[in-house]
Amino acid sequence: MRIVLMGPPGAGKGTQARRLSESTGMKHLSTGDMLRAEVASGSELGLLAKEFMDRGDLVPDSNIIAMIQQHIDDPAGVLLDGFPRTVVQAKALDQALEKSNSPVDQVIHMSVDIDELVERLSNRALCGDCQTPYNLESNPPSKAGKCDKCGGPVAVRVDDRPEAVTHRMKVYQELTAPVLDYYKSHGNVVEILATGSPDEVFEKLSHAIKSRMPGVKAN
Ligand code: AP5
Ligand code: MG
Repeated sequence: MRIVLMGPPGAGKGTQARRLSESTGMKHLSTGDMLRAEVASGSELGLLAKEFMDRGDLVPDSNIIAMIQQHIDDPAGVLLDGFPRTVVQAKALDQALEKSNSPVDQVIHMSVDIDELVERLSNRALCGDCQTPYNLESNPPSKAGKCDKCGGPVAVRVDDRPEAVTHRMKVYQELTAPVLDYYKSHGNVVEILATGSPDEVFEKLSHAIKSRMPGVKAN
């Protein structure tokens, strides 16, 4: 089972993919989380990626495809979060999945209006170890700067500064919105209005997944 969660920065892909992974047993694959781990480890890929990420630009397709390729065939199924983000990546994913005869089953497009996205990102902080997201206004960690789940350091992402957020939105429109059109032409896109509480959004997503794939346990 392969599910792609799409949506602009701040749509709630990471928040919901985590919950869906717990409820379905599918593996959560976030290219953003993988890249942040590379940056934290100081690897060659991390050093290259950091420059692109801090500006809010996409990391080159070749690096992303090489990084994710070995993970997409997980027998538990995968929930893709933040990948594919260009049409080149979407085609590379299709090609890789062709080999195992298990194409993308469902693409869920999470939409949220721009003002709410900017508000969410300006209040976001993230655990540097387990990547749990917090909202410093409505859902802060119980102890400032410390993750409730793992005790790791909670900090604001460099690319959540206002100028980087504006650039990420533009990059989304230019390079990632066409991926949605690519999937629409395949006819497997479900539209979700991803506003309301995280619980409400989770209900909508679980319903969408179950109605397409009745065998999946999604709550
Ligand atoms: P990535 O980490 O994927 O960032 P993004 O797509 O910009 O998305 P975000 O993580 O900002 O948002 P999200 O949708 O996950 O929302 P979240 O759940 O956190 O990518 C970062 C960078 O890495 C890219 O810019 C690029 O440089 C590089 N990169 C990654 N993948 C790449 C690829 N495939 N190709 C090339 N480069 C790549 O929620 C946001 C906030 O809102 C949180 O505070 C959360 O608590 C809150 N929230 C969530 N849901 C709700 C709700 N329903 N109501 C109120 N608040 C909510
Ligand atoms: Mg995310």
